[in-house]
Amino acid sequence: MLCLACPTNPEWIPVAVANPDLILLDHAHCEKKAAFFALTMINRYPNRTRLVREMIDLAAEELEHFTTVMNELEKRNLTLGRDAGSDYAKALHEHLHGTEPKRLLDFLMIGAFIEARSCERFSLLAKHAPTEEMRALYRSLFESEAGHYRLYTDIAREYYPHEEVKQRLLEFGQIEAEIVKGLANKPTMHG
Ligand SMILES: [Fe+2]
Ligand SMILES: [Fe+2]
Repeated sequence: MLCLACPTNPEWIPVAVANPDLILLDHAHCEKKAAFFALTMINRYPNRTRLVREMIDLAAEELEHFTTVMNELEKRNLTLGRDAGSDYAKALHEHLHGTEPKRLLDFLMIGAFIEARSCERFSLLAKHAPTEEMRALYRSLFESEAGHYRLYTDIAREYYPHEEVKQRLLEFGQIEAEIVKGLANKPTMHG
């Protein structure tokens, strides 16, 4: 699926399905961080006008998702609580180039892979979540995360030669796959 070089370990699915509250709590933080990442990109690259415009729209959409998930938490009498952080995202950031112009490409790759992996996991939850209401929630989010993956790769192709983008997508695909293979199948979106 998308640019992913390996599927999620099937052992993650029963863990996620058995812990819908924990998944939702972590998911809420993921939507918040997706919006924050988009705003941070504007801060880093204020002279890249297409990127700025796209990141404004993306941040707005991710905040809408955050609201949707917060509504779900409130229905369940859950409090958001502190963000435990994501080893997955941290590990991806360790592969960022230290200098431009390659650093922007890597930020776009990280954005693309986090969206692609989220999209894959939403598709699993859309199939396996315990209630129809939850399956419908994940179905609706699946579509938009696939669009976000494409958005990051489209922006990359605007600023870098297509061959370079293709090459870095392949490299990051391998990096991301190694990270995913090392995950402990915890009840989090990228666990
Ligand atoms: Fe989202
Ligand atoms: Fe997204």
